Amino acid sequence: MADTELCRSCDRKTMTKPIEILTGNFLVTAVGSEGIRPEELNKFHPELQAAHRHVRADYNRGLAGEFAALQLGREMPAQLGEIRAMADALATYSDVLVIGIGGSSLGAKALQLALMFHIRENRPRLHFIENIDTYQLERVLSKLEPAHTALVCISKSGGTIESAVHFMILRDWLARGVGATQARQQQWIVTDPGRGWLRDLVRRERLPSLPVPPQVGGRYSVLTAVGLLPLAAIGVDIESLLKGAADNEARCQTDDLASNPAMEIAAYCYLMDRLRQKRISVMMPYVNRLQLFVDWYCQLWAESLGKWDRSIHNSVPAGTLPVRAMGAIDQHSQLQMYLESRHDKFFTFIELEHWEHDRPIPLATADQEFFPYLKNRSMAEVIHAELQATRSVITEAGHPNMTIRLPAMNAHVLGQLIDLYQRATIYTGLLYGINPLDQPSVEKGKILAIEYLRGMT
Ligand code: PA5
Repeated sequence: MADTELCRSCDRKTMTKPIEILTGNFLVTAVGSEGIRPEELNKFHPELQAAHRHVRADYNRGLAGEFAALQLGREMPAQLGEIRAMADALATYSDVLVIGIGGSSLGAKALQLALMFHIRENRPRLHFIENIDTYQLERVLSKLEPAHTALVCISKSGGTIESAVHFMILRDWLARGVGATQARQQQWIVTDPGRGWLRDLVRRERLPSLPVPPQVGGRYSVLTAVGLLPLAAIGVDIESLLKGAADNEARCQTDDLASNPAMEIAAYCYLMDRLRQKRISVMMPYVNRLQLFVDWYCQLWAESLGKWDRSIHNSVPAGTLPVRAMGAIDQHSQLQMYLESRHDKFFTFIELEHWEHDRPIPLATADQEFFPYLKNRSMAEVIHAELQATRSVITEAGHPNMTIRLPAMNAHVLGQLIDLYQRATIYTGLLYGINPLDQPSVEKGKILAIEYLRGMT
């Protein structure tokens, strides 16, 4: 179903409206001494402008740039034809096993859930094969027919152990089911254009493949073929997704803090850590469909920023720990801890303005005595009231917080949100004086796992 068909009650303007970022509750005027004072923000302008200049300097370098990930909204439309052609081939299967881990799966998984009402009928089911779990793999395979199943192996480096092991096992499973020659017709690869085991396999076996731009790292790659191919296969409007990212990029070209939402998020998150010692960043959407978006954000934020800042005082730790929460569920679980325990956290609420499929609450006369406040209310009004209430108690308890307000849940809005957080993460890394694009310690772990495998008898 196209976005325009789906959103009958919201006009075209609502569908492409910019995301709102409400940061007033980060200030001393809202939360008292735990908040940021306007003069602290003003004093910080030179650092913010330097980070902004660094990102801006890359603007015309396209996919060759250091921050190529921030230009995908503009650059990827040129590759849409090729991606769509492959997605159409995938769409002829009933099931697609999408092999990948970390940045090679979290983004597509998150967007599949977020855009669940935008998935077309009669499209394949996607099964994300990520962690090594023999039982889970057995369960998935027991329901599949090799002849109707396609494999897509996604790995930027082209050699991550979990993905390589899964691909070997699943290629074998497919070949046993349909024969080796036919099995090769049912495999697709997304990887680095020049290097790695997968690229080698593409060359040796002439498997169809799409490139991940070399300058775009795993966790920043959802807007490349890594995310776009599986999403296009299920009918997500990938053009609108990229348009949303490009629109957010255009919005973030100014160095005026109040008009550049990515810079605003970065500034407050950095100052929360450095000036108020708040080292835990809780993200709490009040929309179930964003549950996996929070997982994507956690990986992006943690792997990009959890490093040693060697630019000041001979090295100090950088980064704030991203924590997942879900409204209203965690009001009944984590909220007590948030309200009364240590003042070491700040919060990001995500609010949805327009709810599709809202339902009025059918309040029977006999129930009115118990729930008089539910009279003439709808489900969307209940969740809005719950968010407002939680935000108020968090603010009153002196915990700094911001709200990301989404006009609707569609591909354009999600494209904005992805670009917003990728951009805010890179600005924050530059403020810390670290490289937000690498992950040196993760690499060490990958190498050690190989050493242990070598040592096994
Ligand atoms: O952000 C990153 O680079 C990592 O989290 C990777 O996405 C993850 O390790 C998977 O790597 P690859 O895509 O090379 O298989």
